[in-house]
Amino acid sequence: MEFLGGLKRTCYCGEISPAHNGKEVVLMGWVHRRRDHGGLIFADLRDREGLVQVVFNPATDKPSYEKAKLIKPEYVILVRGTVRGRPQGTENKEIRTGLYEVEVAELRILNEAKTPPFPVAQEKVDVDETTRLQYRYIDLRREKMRNNLILRHRITNLVREFLNSEGFLDVETPILTKSTPEGARDFLVPSRLNAGKFYALPQSPQLFKQLLMVSGFDRYFQIARCFRDEDLRADRQPEFTQIDIEMSFIEMEDLMDIMERLFVRIFKTFKGFEPARPFYRLSYDESMRRFSNDKPDMRFGMELVELNGIFKNSGFNVFKQVIAGNGLIKGIKAGHDFSRKEIEELELFVKQYQAKGLVWLKMKDGVLASPVDKFLSDEEKNGLQQAFGINNGDTVFAVADTSAKVVHDAMSNLRLHLGKRLNLIKEGDFRLLWVTEFPAFEYNEEEQRYDSVHHPFTSPRDQDIAILEQSPLAVRSKAYDLVLNGTEVGGGSIRIHNSDVQSKVFRLLNISDESARAKFGFLLDALQYGAPPHGGIAFGLDRLVMILTGSESIRDVIPFPKTQKGTCPLTDAPSDVDDKQLRELFIKKNVKA
Ligand code: AMO
Ligand code: AMP
Repeated sequence: MEFLGGLKRTCYCGEISPAHNGKEVVLMGWVHRRRDHGGLIFADLRDREGLVQVVFNPATDKPSYEKAKLIKPEYVILVRGTVRGRPQGTENKEIRTGLYEVEVAELRILNEAKTPPFPVAQEKVDVDETTRLQYRYIDLRREKMRNNLILRHRITNLVREFLNSEGFLDVETPILTKSTPEGARDFLVPSRLNAGKFYALPQSPQLFKQLLMVSGFDRYFQIARCFRDEDLRADRQPEFTQIDIEMSFIEMEDLMDIMERLFVRIFKTFKGFEPARPFYRLSYDESMRRFSNDKPDMRFGMELVELNGIFKNSGFNVFKQVIAGNGLIKGIKAGHDFSRKEIEELELFVKQYQAKGLVWLKMKDGVLASPVDKFLSDEEKNGLQQAFGINNGDTVFAVADTSAKVVHDAMSNLRLHLGKRLNLIKEGDFRLLWVTEFPAFEYNEEEQRYDSVHHPFTSPRDQDIAILEQSPLAVRSKAYDLVLNGTEVGGGSIRIHNSDVQSKVFRLLNISDESARAKFGFLLDALQYGAPPHGGIAFGLDRLVMILTGSESIRDVIPFPKTQKGTCPLTDAPSDVDDKQLRELFIKKNVKA
């Protein structure tokens, strides 16, 4: 092992450019690859900015050539040498520095490395994700992971600069706090100083940012870590980061305007195009009608059509029963002639979502054919023709169910599945839209009460406050989600700033005064000490970076994420603690997992 010996790095490997040609440089980094060509040894040297080829030539410097025979991938080395153009025909257009190489005059081996559990130099590694997470520090050396984190930094930085220039103040809020109302399960932290009591980790800074508005900070933001004990998916982590924002003295349009400008800046900087403003907007009802979900992927068409009208007098038993049961029938047209086997697969696909079956009709030689053909009247077939404009080679699918939720789940997922399957999604296409006018409340059948669709501090539309009590399900809220390529990247609302309206909402949600006091008493108090009209939004930074980097998993944009089971293979968290620690926290383990 050798030391730096006072040598200073002159630049990053990945930065070597025409300006360095003919000059001496000192580089430090990791050996990416090594190739022994008999007389000469070549190595690719890597640091966070990229690679450069270095050449060990016995004629230039014999000792470094001899030492270079020892170096292996992931050794940490220092080279001093001269930059020169690569001989004609040996340039590498694939890498940024590929026109140059460094002829080494001095090599220092700063550290050796064991053979890594997977090669860093390969774009796709052939090991399971747990191994990558266990050796995350090596995984993060890979070009894709490194670029993801660098882009994440640049996006965060742009967000900070933009919000700063718009007068937002970055204010921190507590991590050890009280349960917040985002509706997931809390992570709890026992208190040693207060026997038997617990902090909750924040599901978001929601209540604190509202308090900051009451304090008069007017424009707040925070790149905030949030914690939710939920079942994990490809785009969900138990701890994740929000770009959290709150503003006073504004209405929905004011907030949307600033956020659109932020997103235009992001896309202009990182994707080289400017999304047209104002962004497309869909009401929740329209989104459900056309896409059966509230986060439509608008990179392709294939919109869903409600077919209840067409089949209101159907002779097909399934449809008849669903209509009689006040259910829903929805259909979709795909410009593709599916084989029997493919249709069977699609039927299995929708059955995952509890659909009971999948009706299909195909247009061949101008005739609509279907296994349920004999039950369909000409009038119904004409109705379908009018609704979809069916051409030869098209297939129409429909799902019917007495539960609208089943139909929405099955059909929205079928649409996405077909969109991918038929390659309708163009790479590099980004579709942003707002979904607005959400219902404020939904009925919770299990618990027989109303729940907030967002959180209980979301303001109803002004015109709906009067009908809060009579028809809660008709109340629409001042909530908005920002949707990007079928993912909800952000959500927020104008808040209730009046304690009477707030009390009405709590009553409607069957939250007793006592329980409201116990949970959010501090916020209710604050609303009585001069709360300004206010509202805000939070964007899921991880999800945004995931989409902008084209990553399949949210874990690929988080340096040290958790597995699907919420574990960290690197540190082995969560782990056992000793009994003494538990005693200090007044905790006794008596539930066996
Ligand atoms: P919401 O709960 O909609 O709103 O969260 C805002 C955004 O955070 C992202 N997100 C997640 N990302 C990764 N993993 C998760 N488990 C996860 N959960 C949410 C989503 C989502 O759009 N306090 C409100 C915001 C407000 O009203 O101002 C809130 O937290 O992209
Ligand atoms: P069956 O009457 O069960 O033999 O079904 C006849 C056809 O209707 C099959 O293609 C089923 O997949 C389809 N089907 C049955 N139930 C439904 C439903 N609820 N929605 C859509 N298609 C259905």
